[in-house]
Amino acid sequence: MDFRTQVIVSGASSRLSADALLLLLVGQSLPAGLDEPLAKAVNEAIAQGDFSLKPGKLAYLRQVAGVKTPRVAVVSVRDDSAKALKAAAAAGLGLLKGLGVKHLAVQISGLTAVGAAHAEALAGAAGDAVYLYRSTKPSAPPPPVLAKISLLLASKAEAQAADEGLARGAAINEGVALARELGNRPGNHCTPTMLAAESRKMARASGLKIEVLDRKQIEALGMGSFLAVAQGSDEPPRFIVMHYQGAVKSSAPLVLVGKGITFDSGGISLKPGGEMDEMKFDMGGAASVIGTMRAVAQLKPKLNLIGVIAACENLPSGRALKPGDVVTSLSGQTIEVLNTDAEGRLILCDALTYVERFKPAAVVDIATLTGACVVALGAVRSGMFSPDDSLAAELLAAGDAALDTCWRMPVDDEYDEGLKSNFADMANIAGRAGGAVTAAMFLKRFTANLRWAHLDIAGTAWKSGAAKGSTGRPVGLLTHWVMAQAQAQAQAK
Ligand code: BES
Ligand code: MN
Ligand code: ZN
Repeated sequence: MDFRTQVIVSGASSRLSADALLLLLVGQSLPAGLDEPLAKAVNEAIAQGDFSLKPGKLAYLRQVAGVKTPRVAVVSVRDDSAKALKAAAAAGLGLLKGLGVKHLAVQISGLTAVGAAHAEALAGAAGDAVYLYRSTKPSAPPPPVLAKISLLLASKAEAQAADEGLARGAAINEGVALARELGNRPGNHCTPTMLAAESRKMARASGLKIEVLDRKQIEALGMGSFLAVAQGSDEPPRFIVMHYQGAVKSSAPLVLVGKGITFDSGGISLKPGGEMDEMKFDMGGAASVIGTMRAVAQLKPKLNLIGVIAACENLPSGRALKPGDVVTSLSGQTIEVLNTDAEGRLILCDALTYVERFKPAAVVDIATLTGACVVALGAVRSGMFSPDDSLAAELLAAGDAALDTCWRMPVDDEYDEGLKSNFADMANIAGRAGGAVTAAMFLKRFTANLRWAHLDIAGTAWKSGAAKGSTGRPVGLLTHWVMAQAQAQAQAK
């Protein structure tokens, strides 16, 4: 993501020089304020049957008389929401794909007011459109050349909100692009060591403090559960801690904890071969933590934020963890490992115990934790689990505002029953039923001293099929949550 954004207050979109104009029309009739030459061209396109004001309709117009930009993409927006605007902008950008547009002008017509959320949605659509995976694909097409987006506003009154929205959108774009890039890299190009190196690179560029613990240091801490997962691989584990300081040291931080399994074969409880390649995305939680730290560092809210990542591979070998093994977690609680493929919770539980030392205001862990969550919620909403009603409400609201939604799932004590073990304090799996919930219940056993929530992003962090790839979710949700907490902390003072 390397385009700049600006706001221009001027009604005369026809006279603006840019490579293309994206015209987003809200409402059932042509908005009154639309520039004359554009209104004429759109009416003509409607008369010719090339376009209509029905939701989702779009048209590409070239060399419109009286309009300076050589290309116009016009899209009908379903309603006045930011969500509809983002979908329409994405469709319009699709029409302009591959045309070498460097400077894009955007006009949103027919809204009572262009708000921050609209501007942010627009920036987000553009960020999604320009990301291209290249790092292991020399034959990939050249990256889009988009360098500048000018959002045209009719009145000065909208400018401040629009500016704010564009800035937030740009920061989230940076974080999302980084998370997508890390997620897309194959396991041999994104080992725990490389993930730590990328974290360092981001931290240095963003002015964050970072510590990376190696196997010896992780052993000294006593993270027996995390190490048990890591022991099957020749790739050494890494425990990454990143600090953003935007408030006085004594101010209790927010903490994000990411699952960083850089490849999940299942271990001795080996997964079937089909689609096993997709388990390179099993560090999506970690990627979202790195991306969010990046976005937050750019937005500079007045609070403290710590990002923690447990990173290792889950592989079978002569040294690997076996079903039936009992391991001792950092908390002192012992765990009978009935299935080595339920490894995410084994690394997260130690990370959750570790972060108690920060006396956090709240902790959110993010993990591609269960296939069961994909069955429950699909690819639309992330699963959200928390015993704390206020934290759950904050995360739901942040997801809605970011267009990166989640859905609250239950954490009733009854779901904990299945985790009982005859040989340890708990087992690492329960029965098949409610698998996403029992995974959350396992983590809950390590969070008695925390205000905690868990996001299961197994369905939302990447797409399978033809468009296979990382989505960068939930960087938007997390960034919004952090920004909202900064605002709440400021108001409480
Ligand atoms: N990384 C997987 C979860 C996953 C599966 C994410 C499919 C995305 C798509 C996780 O480590 C795992 O293997 N979970 C098991 C747990 C089971 C053994 C209780 C699962 O979901 O099958
Ligand atoms: Mn697994
Ligand atoms: Zn996994």
